[in-house]
This record gives sequence, structure tokens and C-alpha cells, in this order.
Amino acid sequence: MNKVKNTLFSNKLVTIDNNSLIMAIESSCDETACAIVKGGREVISNVVASQIKIHEEYGGVIPEIAAREHLEAINVVIDEAFKQAGVNGEQISAFAGTVGPGLVGCLLVGMNAAKSLALAYDKPFIGVNHLNAHLAANFIDTDLEPPFIALLVSGGHTQIIRVNSYSDMEIIGETIDDAVGEAYDKVARLIGLPYPGGPKLDKLAQEGNPYAFKLPESKVGGYDFSFSGLKTASLRLVKSFTDKNIPLPLEDICASFQECVSATLYKKVKHALEENNYKQVVLAGGVAANSEIRKKIFSLKEFGYNVYAPQMKYCTDNASMVASAAYFFDGKNSTFDNIDVEVFSRIKG
Ligand code: KG4
Ligand code: ZN
Repeated sequence: MNKVKNTLFSNKLVTIDNNSLIMAIESSCDETACAIVKGGREVISNVVASQIKIHEEYGGVIPEIAAREHLEAINVVIDEAFKQAGVNGEQISAFAGTVGPGLVGCLLVGMNAAKSLALAYDKPFIGVNHLNAHLAANFIDTDLEPPFIALLVSGGHTQIIRVNSYSDMEIIGETIDDAVGEAYDKVARLIGLPYPGGPKLDKLAQEGNPYAFKLPESKVGGYDFSFSGLKTASLRLVKSFTDKNIPLPLEDICASFQECVSATLYKKVKHALEENNYKQVVLAGGVAANSEIRKKIFSLKEFGYNVYAPQMKYCTDNASMVASAAYFFDGKNSTFDNIDVEVFSRIKG
């Protein structure tokens, strides 16, 4: 039996069930996205307008430019999501929007658009935590239910989370410095790859020897991570070639970096599964698209674990995952069933 969503609207309890449609909007960083999802698992339409081309020339996301681009794109993606689904606003049961963490100016555009739709059609508004949305990408087209261990790896976060139920989650490990995606993008930049470097580094890594160079795995304890030492070691490795005017063995550097990162993630997740006695593990966040990290995490199946990772198009930022999170999650700090909720840039306390 699939879960149903109960939300308070105009002082009445409203039930959103398997047949209900949620429209969601995502605009926390550099993707303007809108989607319509049925019962939290079935994507009816999924529209994403990426700003990568615009930010490429600056080598990263410029918040002011990103916010302006969201304003340009927002109505277009909403219209397109309605059009692709062949439904109108009256047929939507609730409107959801990402409220944080993310770039405040960017979040405001998407969240206010979702709130406006909710007010116009007199339907509930559900605010969604972007990190929970990444986790919820695993509910799409699957029968996944908690409890599970999640490895969340994105441009801004690296966490191991115990998801005990739809309303009870606990972060048991996280990075003490750079996020995995950030480390990928920084090292990619160092070797001259354009923004966002993560996917390009991954591609080159697949052509190289993962054992060509020994890069240091961090020694940080428990389920926590650190990637700054690896970043410095990569810098030193690159310099050892450039100082002597030797062309960089790009594929081997990428493969060795990727091996180091994926081995660390794998070990920590395996420990978390064993020590907490969980049977299921999910991978989430933009870096969940990484070929080697997926391969290593999926290899946990050999030990009898159920392993989930979102389809590629639902790994990086999209609105289907936001609709799915709005439907399934109801914990404090994961969804906010309240039209007065405000955007936030970082997770509080
Ligand atoms: O989740 P996401 O779309 O945005 C955030 O919420 O941060 O993640 C974007 C991050 C970027 O750092 C990007 O380089 C990284 O995900 N990424 C990858 C791959 N695809 C995306 N990193 C490594 N390998 C990939 N295949
Ligand atoms: Zn994201």
C-alpha cells in the first residue's frame, strides 16, 4: 500500500492519494524546472531549463544572473509542464516549491511562482527541502519505502542519512570541508575542464587507469568525510607535470581521483549499513550520476542489500523529485505545508 499525503489546508485535513497530481517547481541553483507527478511516483511531465551555457563563461554560477534567468524561464517551464501533461491547474491537488537550501534570489522566483499557483487555484502549497527532494528522486518509478541508508552527494552537500520513516531522518555523517560535487568541479577546473566539470571529469576517468597515481584517502573518523586533502594532493600532482612542461595525463589523473573518491564513499556507506543493520541503500544528488560511484554502490547488491539510485535525468536538479518529496515526506525541516514559509539559504542548526 502506497502512502497517502495528509495536509492541512484552510483548517481542513486534505488527503492527496495515489491518483492525485502534484505540480512542483525547482529553482534553487541553475536549473529552472517544473513537473507534474502522480501519487509521488509517476512522472506525468518533467521540464528542465538549464543555465549551464550562461554560467560556463564565468566558470561557476553567478547568483544574480541565475535569479534573473529563472525569472525569464519560469512561466515558460510552467506552461510547458501543463502542456506536456495535458492537464490544467484545476486538476492539480497541490503545488510544491523548493524553499531551501540554495541561492536565496533563485529560490524566491520558483517558490513564489508555486505559491501564486496555489493561491490562484485555491489548493495547498507544500514547501520542500531541496536535500529531501534529492532523496525522493529514488521513489520515482520504484516501490522503495523506508527504512534505508542514503548517501547524498551533490554540489553543496555530502551526507550519510538514516531514513527511518517518511518523517524521521537523521544525518549520521557529513563532509567537514568540501562537498563531493564541489571537489569534482574544483579539480576539473584545475585541469582545464569547463564548468560544471564533474560530468566531464567522469567521462575522462572512464578512459584512464584508476591506479596510475595514489591519491590520499581522508582519515576523518566515523561516517564523516573530508575532501580538501585530496584536492591539495591533486593540485600537487598536476603541478608536478606543469612545472616540467609535461602534458597532463588527463585520463589517468581523472581516473585516479575518481577511484579515491568512490572508494571512500563506498567504504563509509558499507560501514553505515553494517553497523546500523539496514537492508537498503539509496544514492542521491547530482553526483549520483557518476559512473564509478554508481558502480561501487550497486556492487553492494553482492552482500544482499537492496540498492537504489535515481534514473540519470532525476539525479541532477529537477522538479519531479520535488513533487515526490512533497508527497512522501512530512518530517520537520523536510516539507513545510504552509503558505507563509520563507526561503532559506542553509539548513538551520
Ligand atoms: O544536485 P546537483 O544538481 O546540484 C546541487 O544541488 O548541488 O549537483 C550538481 C553537482 C555538480 O557539482 C556537478 O559537477 C556534479 O553534481 N555532477 C557530477 C556528475 N554529474 C553531475 N559529478 C561527478 N560525476 C558526474 N557524472
Ligand atoms: Zn541539487
